[in-house]
Amino acid sequence: MERELALELVRVTEAAALAAAPWMGKGDKIAADQAAVDAMRATFDTVNMEGTVVIGEGEKDEAPMLYTGEELGAGEDIKLDIAVDPVEGTRLVAKGLPNSLAVVGAAERGHLLNAPDMYMKKIAVGPEAKGVIDLEASPTENLEAVAEAKGKDVSDLTVIILERPRHKEIVEEVREAGARIKFILDGDVAGGIATALEYSGVDMLIGIGGAPEGVLTATALKCLGGDMQAQLHSRNDSETEKALQMGIEDIEQIFSIDDLVKGDDAIFSVTGITDGEMLNGVRYHGEQAETHSIVMRSKTRTVRHIKAKHRIEYKPSYFKKEVLATKES
Ligand code: FBP
Repeated sequence: MERELALELVRVTEAAALAAAPWMGKGDKIAADQAAVDAMRATFDTVNMEGTVVIGEGEKDEAPMLYTGEELGAGEDIKLDIAVDPVEGTRLVAKGLPNSLAVVGAAERGHLLNAPDMYMKKIAVGPEAKGVIDLEASPTENLEAVAEAKGKDVSDLTVIILERPRHKEIVEEVREAGARIKFILDGDVAGGIATALEYSGVDMLIGIGGAPEGVLTATALKCLGGDMQAQLHSRNDSETEKALQMGIEDIEQIFSIDDLVKGDDAIFSVTGITDGEMLNGVRYHGEQAETHSIVMRSKTRTVRHIKAKHRIEYKPSYFKKEVLATKES
């Protein structure tokens, strides 16, 4: 993939974050998501690529835009798989809580797992613990392996877990093993990425979250040199059937990071909507809005932080309408 594409994808996540940010704390997660979808969709169509959405907002009949299978882009020469989450953590924006993100992943055509919209069991770590995790092993065994790889005691490790009743047993075992836990209300993409950021103090993510979010997390971790394993978590026969129809051959399969994101040419872009440990959220200064993004490429492992100032009155009309209308309401 052309390196210029990385900057184009930042424009896409910036647009989604700028459109969603005025909805912070307004209690309307659907409106925040819709604004971000519209802005992301329109910005994608200015990018010189022929992208196919493989991780999107749902099936064609349930999502008017950015649905799985939708074609995006203004070119034909660069054929890509695109994974989107215009607002990762819709509840977080609606409540004004930290770590909601606009995210996009891209890889060559056929390189991103076409994951169904269902749950996925995941374990993720940063580069120091690459190669030692095993989704089939117990949380205790994984903690011991990660501690050894990082030269730490298990009691020094911090594990991120989505706060959900379904994680009761994992939580009990992690506590029993002596590791610390950081619970998150939502947003396991940010949680997964945190494992690969030294300054986060997070060593491992474990638990069940969305499968689409799993593929996005894997894209980011591939760029950061981290590791991940995942397995679809089907709750009934119809979910299993759907997964099989989408080309998953074995519902029990444990996916490695290389199954989730094939090859070594992926790009991941993320822009903060609300403030978080990784990124500042969108800030407003008069007519200017400031965004903070990170864009990374697996090929070179370059990680760029981009702070941008946007003059709202110079934005394309679709974008101005969304931002100004929501800011005024
Ligand atoms: P949304 O942005 O779609 O609201 O997803 C937030 C999220 O917390 C994801 O980060 C996570 O993978 C998934 O929801 C967990 O699903 P559930 O809330 O059903 O446990």
